[in-house]
Amino acid sequence: MPLVPPYIESLRPYEAGRSIEEVRREYGLTQVIKVASNENPIGPSPLALDRMRRAIDTLHLYPNGGLDLRRELARQYDVRVENVIAGSGSEGIMSTIIRAFLCDEDEVLTTESAFIGFQVLAKSRGVTYRTVPYKNWHYDLEALAREVNDHTKIIYLANPNNPTGTIFTRQEFDRFYAHVPERVLIILDEAYFEYAKDNPRYPDSMHYRYDNVITLRTFSKVYGLAGARIGYGFAHQELIANLLKVKLPFEPSTLAQAAGIGALADKEFLHRSLELNARGIRFLSEALRGMGHEIPPSDANFVMLPLGSEQEAKQLTERLLRQGIIVRHLAAFGLPQAIRISTGTDEENQLLVSALA
Ligand SMILES: Cc1ncc(COP(=O)(O)O)c(C=O)c1O
Repeated sequence: MPLVPPYIESLRPYEAGRSIEEVRREYGLTQVIKVASNENPIGPSPLALDRMRRAIDTLHLYPNGGLDLRRELARQYDVRVENVIAGSGSEGIMSTIIRAFLCDEDEVLTTESAFIGFQVLAKSRGVTYRTVPYKNWHYDLEALAREVNDHTKIIYLANPNNPTGTIFTRQEFDRFYAHVPERVLIILDEAYFEYAKDNPRYPDSMHYRYDNVITLRTFSKVYGLAGARIGYGFAHQELIANLLKVKLPFEPSTLAQAAGIGALADKEFLHRSLELNARGIRFLSEALRGMGHEIPPSDANFVMLPLGSEQEAKQLTERLLRQGIIVRHLAAFGLPQAIRISTGTDEENQLLVSALA
């Protein structure tokens, strides 16, 4: 038996976007902007920071496994604390789900080029990972339903989806759901929920709870807390109870939990971030379409730009880097011909469009 299992040996590690500092050094630039990782361009929520500062004095004590945040989420969403989990980002919870529920013979089913974080986590478990192609850059839920077999254990759906930015509607989901056996766990990843929630076509999964669906959300995006690592999930109490058995006992950290509680109260910051993003999406979408590009409609904080070839996408990424603009080439996702551009501040969006033009 080899020390490293073949499915780990062949795994491509998660490649995060490049950092501002790294690009500044490598290209000898003074000003670099990063519109590559779907982060909030105006920084972290101030109320989250206040709350973190207040929590610092208690760092000699172990945290309580996210209980305070779970209570606050249960109160705000009118569910029981037994229906809520908190973790080190939504990826932390994904990792717990994978450890808690997958057996060797199980299969994971999702779309092609799904969110890279999920791809890496699922493949690291060594189970069969199956995908169906996009239909016009949207999930093909009908095809996904047809692909369910006796081994399917987890179906992963991100709504809005990363990297396409597209959504599926409640009607589409309901039709799909009717074909999924109850023994299959559906992960509904709503990392970009806040950006999409005002679109009347977007289904907020908290309005339709099913026993085999777990909703995942995060403070990493609109609340500007990607570095704090704090996310949460809602599900049937039995699912949550089993996840809590497997979760790292002290996850999330004291500071991460404090950040989440502070952020939930920061309505002003949420509103400001959403307004900026809506302007950014409009501006970037119109500018790119004006240049003759066909881009999928985005309900998130980024747009995907499909290009003619891998070569073209690579070259464009490199040329923008040389001008101090970091975008995400989607090769690692499995879309080598495309790049993804997050919304920045108004000035950053202007800079990006000028550079592209
Ligand atoms: C669809 C999706 N889910 C989850 C995440 C990760 O969120 P977190 O920072 O909470 O782990 C991301 C981040 O890019 C994402 O795009």
